[in-house]
Amino acid sequence: MSLPLAAVTGAGSGIGAAIATELGRRGYHVVVTDIDVAAARRTADAIASAEAHQLDVTDPAACEAIVQKIVGVHGRLDVWVSNAGISKMQRFIDVSAADLARNFEVNTYGVFYCGQSAARAMIDLGTPGRIINTASMAAKQGGVPFLADYVASKFAVLGLTQAMAFELAPHGIRVNSVCPGFVATPMQTRELAWEAELRGVDPETVKQMWINDTPLARLQSPHDVAKVVAFLASDDAEFITGEALSVNGGAFMD
Ligand SMILES: NC(=O)c1ccc[n+]([C@@H]2O[C@H](COP(=O)([O-])OP(=O)(O)OC[C@H]3O[C@@H](n4cnc5c(N)ncnc54)[C@H](O)[C@@H]3O)[C@@H](O)[C@H]2O)c1
Repeated sequence: MSLPLAAVTGAGSGIGAAIATELGRRGYHVVVTDIDVAAARRTADAIASAEAHQLDVTDPAACEAIVQKIVGVHGRLDVWVSNAGISKMQRFIDVSAADLARNFEVNTYGVFYCGQSAARAMIDLGTPGRIINTASMAAKQGGVPFLADYVASKFAVLGLTQAMAFELAPHGIRVNSVCPGFVATPMQTRELAWEAELRGVDPETVKQMWINDTPLARLQSPHDVAKVVAFLASDDAEFITGEALSVNGGAFMD
């Protein structure tokens, strides 16, 4: 019997790399994908059973092609994690149409395209598949500074997750989101610098503000998020679908 198979997007860095690593540790063969294939390879190299592929989630034909390739080679697709995402901090009044479009293309359309291709394959295979989308604490509250386009794109992910969960439930496919808070990743390093500049303070001050906003009193690690994704992928979560599971140390409670 072949290993269960999980594919992760944006898995060359940060949260995606941690998710791929944790799923590998739990016995999956992991298809590690990223727009940056060298980064994907670095993640895959550290996993017992894994392969790396280039995937730009904004290209629907590429999403379909990678799913077809996985199914063609392995004959299975058990878990799909749509994790790739981008952010750029700026004032709402300064967001250009191009920045807005790019944000939605990656953060929302990418989840849509990948979810469609993964779901088609799971239905064809008759697999009780699991799809997990990385949303954000900013998918549940707009009280987040300098991220208006990101907030809008991530709120959309929660609605999409519910719609997918509703339509795919008759096929035995569960669809959930995970909503991280302040996670120490390269994205966060960029955000610390942007927010510090916009507020006229230094990045350490911003970091301390974020920790102060978190009752559990530390920044999250990518592994904190990866463990929750692994739970949602597991049978322990077999009656959970359409959920947006917060993992944020209490920084936002709903
Ligand atoms: N870091 C945080 O605090 C935080 C909080 C909440 C949610 N998130 C979300 O978690 C996810 C991962 O974020 P991260 O912090 O690990 O960021 P990161 O920048 O460290 O990693 C993101 C990865 O996505 C890849 N990527 C970017 N555009 C892509 C595209 N078009 N197609 C495929 N891959 C692409 C990048 O190459 C990179 O490897 C994102 O969806 C992000 O919005 C992050």
